[in-house]
Amino acid sequence: MSEPFDTLFAAALAVRGRAYVPYSNFKVGAAAITEDGHVFAGCNVENAAYPQGQCAEATTIGMMVAGGGARIAALVVIGGEPGDGLLCSPCGGCRQRIREFAGPETPIHICGPEGLRRTATLDELLPWSFGPDNLERRA
Ligand code: THU
Repeated sequence: MSEPFDTLFAAALAVRGRAYVPYSNFKVGAAAITEDGHVFAGCNVENAAYPQGQCAEATTIGMMVAGGGARIAALVVIGGEPGDGLLCSPCGGCRQRIREFAGPETPIHICGPEGLRRTATLDELLPWSFGPDNLERRA
């Protein structure tokens, strides 16, 4: 696959190497490109108080917002081990986090360390979603 996938994959793979995962030992890296072409990446960051752990997608979104990014045009997530045959697809909470900054057709490329495994749109991952538009017409 071509740009920007290659750029996002490389960024996500690099940051995955810095994942802080002493509890799960499951490293995840993610990278987003914004509609104006900036790339932001993040890894999962776990915590001794387990529920306080943060997914790679959440870190990526935080990096994007802190860096001045606004809208996600495409997202890559890398998790798992080569040949495990599994999809490291965003958890339910992260699907909603992505929803805040992406459109229904935004591609989410779910990858293993060896490359792309499957691509889904946000609407496929989170149909009938609730989003910012639901709050626009409050009195
Ligand atoms: N995790 C992510 O960072 N992103 C995903 O899409 C799935 C799961 C993390 C959370 C936790 O640190 C570890 O993977 C195991 O669940």
